[in-house]
Amino acid sequence: MVDLKGQYEQIKERIDSSILNVVESTAFINGPEVHSFQKELEDYLDVKHVIPCANGTDALQITMMGLGLQPGDEVITADFTFAATVEVIALLQLTPVLVDVEPDSFNIDPEAIKRAITPKTKAIVPVHLFGQSANMDAIMAIAKEHNLYVIEDNAQGIGGNYHSKDGSTSKTGTIGHVASTSFFPSKNLGCYGDGGAIFTNDDDLAHTIRGIVNHGMYQRYHHDVIGVNSRLDSIQATILRVKLTNLDRYNNARREAAKKYTVAFANQKHISTPVIIDKEDTHVFHQYTLRIIDIDRDALVKHLNDNGIPCGVYYPIPLHSQKAYLDKRYNEADFPVTNQLVKEVISLPMHTELDNEQIDFITKTVIDFVNQ
Ligand SMILES: Cc1ncc(COP(=O)(O)O)c(C=O)c1O
Repeated sequence: MVDLKGQYEQIKERIDSSILNVVESTAFINGPEVHSFQKELEDYLDVKHVIPCANGTDALQITMMGLGLQPGDEVITADFTFAATVEVIALLQLTPVLVDVEPDSFNIDPEAIKRAITPKTKAIVPVHLFGQSANMDAIMAIAKEHNLYVIEDNAQGIGGNYHSKDGSTSKTGTIGHVASTSFFPSKNLGCYGDGGAIFTNDDDLAHTIRGIVNHGMYQRYHHDVIGVNSRLDSIQATILRVKLTNLDRYNNARREAAKKYTVAFANQKHISTPVIIDKEDTHVFHQYTLRIIDIDRDALVKHLNDNGIPCGVYYPIPLHSQKAYLDKRYNEADFPVTNQLVKEVISLPMHTELDNEQIDFITKTVIDFVNQ
């Protein structure tokens, strides 16, 4: 699905010397590389605060701790996303409220959010799924009306833009009150291990969160709040500094590959290609995800694997049907889109090193199968 080796070969010299510098400096934890990466990512995103941490799941959890959400508070998020988003809500004894997504963008449906709001609702977590921005204008308007926090889960969307109706353009992850991201190796900005970060323009929240990631300390050995130990290490930070300089190029390479896939699949009645809701720069194609119509999707998965083509089904089960998150309040009729998507979606290889020959082979293999 990804070609991390091919990407590494392109930046090997810079990566190797950066890692060696960290090893020689022995500043493995909270060293200058972490600080420099933080500043460079703040500049790139045009956000006041980036707080690095150990992974994207921690980033979500720490964000919710930082906002002071309390057991029983309801947090609305998408039914069609990676489990990390709902997992931390449940872990903190908040009440997850899963809602359906839109059939074209696969992102949380603002109308479904409106229907799910109760007096206990405290936050909305939109996920910029597969790299495309959620409808932030609508979500921010709902949040304002009901006095809710918006936590953007930007694990799949880093580097993408959002164009607001007011004419402004912002990077995803800088629009809500706070955002989380993941630097898992296969992410658009991925390190060589685990990593994550939190972004916010709120000075007080940033201060609170900086203490939470470090055992609740604002002054050494003074533990003012309950915290966690969640750090990005210096080796990951130095790798991310190199890769951040390439992020726009990487995202453009993904968009180019996506365009080629979409051209090749045009006019195929059994294939629905990804819909870019706004301008091209609002999608960074973390995944290139098709809907397979009236054909056995799982048979296609097998056929691709038999032909040496990796593919993924993100995601095969709606979160509301996962054993860990079953809840009597959910009604199947409230999830028509997610229930359909889980049967139809298939994600094709998507990375920065895809060449025309690979794309031709993949598209031909898919097209031959769906038309047989
Ligand atoms: C939407 C989403 N949220 C959160 C995460 C969690 O990130 P991590 O694996 O770094 O904990 C992921 C990672 O796959 C993700 O895709």
